[in-house]
Amino acid sequence: MNDIMSLGLHRIWKEEFINMIELEKEYYLLDLATGSGDLLELIKKKCDCMCIGYDSNIEMIKQAKKKLKKNNVFYINGRAELMPFKRNKFDLVTVSFGLRNFSDIDQSLKEIKRIIKKGGKFYCLEFSEINNRSLRTLFNLYSKIIPFYGKIFLNNKEAYSYLIQSIKEFPNQMLLTKKLLKVGFKNIEVIDILDGVASIHICEL
Ligand SMILES: C[S@@+](CC[C@H](N)C(=O)[O-])C[C@H]1O[C@@H](n2cnc3c(N)ncnc32)[C@H](O)[C@@H]1O
Repeated sequence: MNDIMSLGLHRIWKEEFINMIELEKEYYLLDLATGSGDLLELIKKKCDCMCIGYDSNIEMIKQAKKKLKKNNVFYINGRAELMPFKRNKFDLVTVSFGLRNFSDIDQSLKEIKRIIKKGGKFYCLEFSEINNRSLRTLFNLYSKIIPFYGKIFLNNKEAYSYLIQSIKEFPNQMLLTKKLLKVGFKNIEVIDILDGVASIHICEL
């Protein structure tokens, strides 16, 4: 469905995202809301660091395990709002198209900050606010079709109506930056993709 909805673009965005991450073999990395493991697959191609895939949905973790069976990845089933890790554990935390789905974004950001080491980084890829008005109008029109794709391909219109609603309600680049600053991240870099259809936030501790 991601391929259909994004016309394959989500793969390019994820590759762009991974290319921005400075990876070292001795790093501990947590991929939050790992889903079916798209990011972990790309990360492992680039560097064989110690990776944990974390997701609240056990069925998604099963998909990730299938996809990454030859890679040395550990998986934990749990919610971003309360994670079973000691403080200062990870060098890097990544999340792609996950933050928007968390029921308590502020609490999840506090947890992410708690588990990252001093000097570590948080990388977030998420849908965002389109800067250009004409492109925004075009995207809004396209958004109206997406729930029908859900109906045709998965017989689930509601899930994709939710997707569009969650994109509309998610904080834009500036508001997300404010939230990240509030929990204590610094040197926040924001990179827009396709003029803000999605954006990448890179933050340091
Ligand atoms: C759209 S998928 C993204 C998956 C993957 N990161 C990617 O980019 O393809 C969102 C994922 O967030 C997970 N998720 C939703 N709420 C969560 C929460 N509170 N804590 C952890 N994971 C959550 C879902 O189970 C789902 O696998």
